[in-house]
Amino acid sequence: LLSQLGPDAHLRMILRKRPSERTADDLEIIYEELLHIKALSHLSITVKRELSGVLIFESHAQAGTVLFSQGEEGASWYIILKGSVNVVIYGKGVVCTLHEGDDFGKLALVNDAPRAASIVLREDNCHFLRVDKEDFNRILRDVEANTVRLKEHHQDVLVLEKSLSRGSQPGATSSHHKYTVMSGTPEKILEHLLEMMRLDAQFTESDPALDDFVLMHCVFIPNAKLCPVLTAQYPLTAISWNYNNELSHFLLGLKLDYTLNNKRRVVRLVLRWAAVHGRHLQEEDASLAFLQEFLMSVTADARVLPLKDQLTELQKIVNSNTEDARSSQKKHKVLLRQFSMGEEKLQKRQPIKSTDEILFKVYCCDHTYTTIRVAVAASVREVVDAVADKLGSAAQDLLLVSLSSAGDKVIHSPGDISVFSTLTVNGRLFACTRAQLGSLVPLPEQEGPSAGSLATFELMSSKDVAYHLTVYDWELFNCVHEHELLYNTLGKHRFKKTTANLDLFLRRFNEIQLWVVTEVCLCTQLNKRVQLFKKFIKIAAHCKEYRNLNSFFSIIMGMSNPAVSRLSQTWEKLPSKFKKFYGEFENLMDPSRNHRAYRLTVGKLQPPVIPFMPLLIKDMTFTHEGNKTFVDNLVNFEKMRMIANTLKIVRFCRSQTFSPDSSQTNKSHPEVRSYVRQLNVIDNQRSLTQLSHGLEPRRC
Ligand code: CMP
Repeated sequence: LLSQLGPDAHLRMILRKRPSERTADDLEIIYEELLHIKALSHLSITVKRELSGVLIFESHAQAGTVLFSQGEEGASWYIILKGSVNVVIYGKGVVCTLHEGDDFGKLALVNDAPRAASIVLREDNCHFLRVDKEDFNRILRDVEANTVRLKEHHQDVLVLEKSLSRGSQPGATSSHHKYTVMSGTPEKILEHLLEMMRLDAQFTESDPALDDFVLMHCVFIPNAKLCPVLTAQYPLTAISWNYNNELSHFLLGLKLDYTLNNKRRVVRLVLRWAAVHGRHLQEEDASLAFLQEFLMSVTADARVLPLKDQLTELQKIVNSNTEDARSSQKKHKVLLRQFSMGEEKLQKRQPIKSTDEILFKVYCCDHTYTTIRVAVAASVREVVDAVADKLGSAAQDLLLVSLSSAGDKVIHSPGDISVFSTLTVNGRLFACTRAQLGSLVPLPEQEGPSAGSLATFELMSSKDVAYHLTVYDWELFNCVHEHELLYNTLGKHRFKKTTANLDLFLRRFNEIQLWVVTEVCLCTQLNKRVQLFKKFIKIAAHCKEYRNLNSFFSIIMGMSNPAVSRLSQTWEKLPSKFKKFYGEFENLMDPSRNHRAYRLTVGKLQPPVIPFMPLLIKDMTFTHEGNKTFVDNLVNFEKMRMIANTLKIVRFCRSQTFSPDSSQTNKSHPEVRSYVRQLNVIDNQRSLTQLSHGLEPRRC
């Protein structure tokens, strides 16, 4: 009888047996068969043997049969033995066809996620091998192929890779491999992450990947393109209520559940998206329009679907955004003065927006100047036009040049944007013709002070100085939008957005460093200099206590500047207690093993923390330059995740507000406050070194 049935039929007969009824011979026959199946070729002998005991044969006679539907819970994994199936996705239709030897349905099992697609038979009489969930989890879950590539219309759209994930509950011991996104098209990544979103848990903790997407999407899909995708993910409810037979009611119920959950996910994503963009959304009319339209759809849905809670949240966000946008239009735009100096430093800072306007001075060769008014994100071209307009000269002849106090020139290219905030501490902007370039010399004021300010600040307590340095740093740090770090790393001209808040924060780092060097180099009396060293070390120690690592580092870097470190007579006189502190501080700055000493220290700190910003910038740049943004036309999401991790450090540092002990807040020290906000420094290293040699000439 067996031989009459033929080998295929025989195998089918065995596979139809209940696993417990299979004999050793049966298992051997199945195992031999498994050796020829493409979808299993990467599995070990042991795994194939185990599979022989659990695989089940399943066949369907009719084309059009739905094996399972998108959104359902996953129950099994399938391998096609004969025939073919279509992979169908709501709103997209058939995205690809799978044939004999292909497998499907493991995503839902590995990731504990709903089915990402429906599977529909493409022809009559299809045969499958099926592994049910429990067996799959036991035998395959952790040994399954490391990489999964999903295709749509013959092109890869999503590449997933296995990685170890621990249970999301704190203290959970269970851990297993789940698929994480390695690369994909922006749309497919979003679709996948939405499917994976758990509605029962908190967004940020349970969906780090979605958070990465929201943080990073501007790198690969700008808001103008993302908004339509979000709209498409939130299809208008086209539910017809005219079904009257029971089955339709049942199906309707399923579909409704699915739709509802999808909608909740999209709303949640949009809320998060709006929160991350924050004030930047108000600068984008299209994004605001999207939010309003989205609100209307959700409002309509909330009449028939239980979406009330989310609706309220959405309403709040939309209202605050539109109101802010309206009021900033009414008020005209904030006018800022030259950033480097002036009284505005004494007022509490508001973040600088790309659409704000700024007043600043552009100097000519002869040191006369014009004051121009342009948008913060204005390009060099626009600045030059404004200058030419004022001077009555031809714009095409003019160059815009940054001139440092040492006379170093940087000629800006016309496409650069928002250049004024990138000036060095005492740098100024000049406009001149190419012929005049050679005769460009710095303004006298760029030289900086000729006398130190020790007399003023030696009366201030080190703790108060550290406190006010930290308050000011917090103001600057809080103004920096997470995205500015991205724009800074990937090139702000690409985004046409300013990084002024970040630039100013980074400039402050240099300013404090130069303040230390300047004060030391302008302090001619040896014993006073020793006092000054002690003072700076104490201020640094207090900054560290306030967890202001940015100022802490800049003070210590100031002390290790060659112009200061070479003053051996001063160092010799420093009491050993201070030398010891300084030695410890210097060790923290040791760059070896990728700044291990610092990273270990900061890793133990609880927020609020002001991190050593230049290092974070370096990390991001390193990741960016070492990895492509696109691989084979797909977004390199792994890179996005790495950069997002650095951004999340910034987020973590600011997750608590800075609230110092009450003894500090009770005293306001207006004189300390204004002193630290108006530091006067020499930023020319050559001058500083010369001064230093004047203090303690080289010993022969
Ligand atoms: P799962 O989500 O469990 O169920 C649907 C299956 O379709 C899915 O796993 C994949 O194995 C398979 N599939 C093939 N191509 C695609 C695609 N482009 N998008 C989603 N799923 C796909």
